[in-house]
This record gives sequence, C-alpha cells and structure tokens, in this order.
Amino acid sequence: MKEELKALGEEAKKLIEKSSNIDEINNIRVEYLGKKGKLKNILRTLGKLSPEERKELGQLANRIKEELEDLLKEKTQFLKKKALEEELQKNRIDITLPSHWIETGSSHPVISTLIDISETFVAMGFSIAEGPEIEKEEYNFDMLNIPKDHPARDMQDTFFLNNGEILRTHTSPVQIRTMLKQKPPIAIIAPGRVYRKDADPTHSPMFHQIEGLLVDKDVTFRDLKGILKIFLESVFGKEIKIRFRPSYFPFTEPSAEVDIGCTVCGGSGCRVCKGTGWLEILGCGMVDPEVFKAVGIDPEEYTGFAFGLGIERIAMLRYRITDIRLLFTGDMRFNHQFKGIR
Ligand code: DAH
Repeated sequence: MKEELKALGEEAKKLIEKSSNIDEINNIRVEYLGKKGKLKNILRTLGKLSPEERKELGQLANRIKEELEDLLKEKTQFLKKKALEEELQKNRIDITLPSHWIETGSSHPVISTLIDISETFVAMGFSIAEGPEIEKEEYNFDMLNIPKDHPARDMQDTFFLNNGEILRTHTSPVQIRTMLKQKPPIAIIAPGRVYRKDADPTHSPMFHQIEGLLVDKDVTFRDLKGILKIFLESVFGKEIKIRFRPSYFPFTEPSAEVDIGCTVCGGSGCRVCKGTGWLEILGCGMVDPEVFKAVGIDPEEYTGFAFGLGIERIAMLRYRITDIRLLFTGDMRFNHQFKGIR
C-alpha cells in the first residue's frame, strides 16, 4: 500500500507539472485530494491494517497530501501570474505615441475684460441690465437730453435703419429703459454692443461699452468718485493714478471725464498717451434733472450718477493691443495668444 500511495503521489505531481491552466489544477485537486478522491480511497482501507502500519501509512498519506497541496498552490499562483502577464502584454499601451490634438477654446480679450469689469461692479451690489441693440431714437437721444441738432445724431455717425429705428450708439439708453420700469433705488451696469460709423486703428463700427447708473436719495459726486476709484484700481492695480477732468455730456450735470496715468509709459509721455502721460478712460457725471423728468423721477427727491466706458479701449491697454481691428478679425493666431490669461 505504501508503494501504491507513493505512486499516486508521483502521478499527481506529474499531472500538476504538466497542467497549463487553473481548471486543470482544480480537477487534479478534486481527483486526488477531494472527498471522493484517490487518496481518500486508499486511506479508507487503512482499517484493515495493524496500528503501527496504520500510523506509518497515515503519516505518509498526510505528507503526500501536504506536498500535493503545496504544489497545487504554487502552480495556481504561477498560472495566475502568467495569465496576468499575458493580459498586460496584450493590452499594452505605448505611452510614447503622440496623443490626439485637443483644441480648447478661450475667452476673447474683450469678453474677459467685460466679465472682469462686470464682476467688480456686481461685487459692489450693482445688478446687470440689458437693452436691445436696435433702439428707438427717443431712448438713444431724446430722453437722454441730446438735442435734435446734436452732431451725434448726424447720418455721418449713426446707423439708421429703414424702419426709423437706429443701432444704438451707446449703452446710455439702457439707463432710460431701466428708470422707466424700475423705481429708485437703482444700481445697474449695462454691458453691450454699440455701433458708430467709425473705422480706424482705434475705432471700430461695432464695439462694447459698459454703462453704469446709480439712483437713490442723497447720492453725491463723492459716491461716484469712490465707486470709480475702486473699479479702476481693481482693473489696473492699486498704484494707478486717476484724474477727474470737467467735461460735458447732455445727460449729466456736472460731467467729467476720467483719465488714468498712462499704463504704457507710466506718465512720462509716449505715443499711446500722445505725450500727455494720461489716458482718457471713461465719461461720467451726475444724472441731469432733465433725464429724471423724462422718465418720471422727481429730481428734487432723487439724485444719481452715471458713467460709460469703452471695453475695447480697456482691453487694449490691459493686453497692450495697438490696433482695435485685431480684436474683430477672428484670426485664431491672434485670439490664441490670450489663452488662459483671464
Ligand atoms: N454715452 C457716452 C458715450 O458713449 C458715455 C457716457 C458719458 C455715459 C457720461 C454716461 C455718462 O453714462 O454719464 O460717449
């Protein structure tokens, strides 16, 4: 029986060695070590033997069993590892291959500037108002106290449509629209496109403006100065020099133009600031009582300020662009320079 046991062990070992997959291994385990397996069958006959023989054969059977179990385990691990390696080999990725080119978009410099400016005002409590680009002359001019013979109303400057309406020449009519539908307190900014018959390196027939309007009781010129200072410092940095210069707009009284120290030469005088050291950046003033009357707000009860600025001009200074027309050519070589800048 001893020989029988040893032969069985050898037989199983050979099979394990030859086996080439996990299924085969499992079959061998069942066939030799299972409850109805070959080893158990032999052990069942041990009862007929003397106690010494039984002991000796029992120990031998256990050794063979342990040995086979070890071999099965080892072979299982080996086969699993092999299978994994084959799998990895099959799905190998060549990370040195060039990847697909993924074209990503970016904000246009005018839009980034528009968003930045808007966010500054929104943070101060202004809301965003909108108006149509096709506008009534009444809102674009008359109610803003712009007289019928004002040069801005000339066919030379304004795009007139066949139906008698116009392309708005500024965002100021949004002031009118807002005050017609909303009672004070009002604090809005109105970003948008405007149109003028103008084309040279610093003028485009379509450009963007942001209008601001704040109406409440006891609003003063000091409030206007404070708000504009915060805004200009947030766009151009805390060190920026600011100057208010008396000016004239039909819809504000008093009116001012705001200059900033030239961002190109720092104030010493250059081509961009035409040697003055200053750059004109926006128009502003206290809302003219005539405008309040036109929209039905009592100028004795309320005061307010308004301002308007060109976004392209600010974008050009910010990104040092010297020709406004570059902003509207759609040339991707130009546009891509501003990727990730905002
Ligand atoms: N609408 C003016 C323009 O297009 C800009 C402007 C100036 C707007 C003064 C205002 C203002 O609201 O108070 O040139």
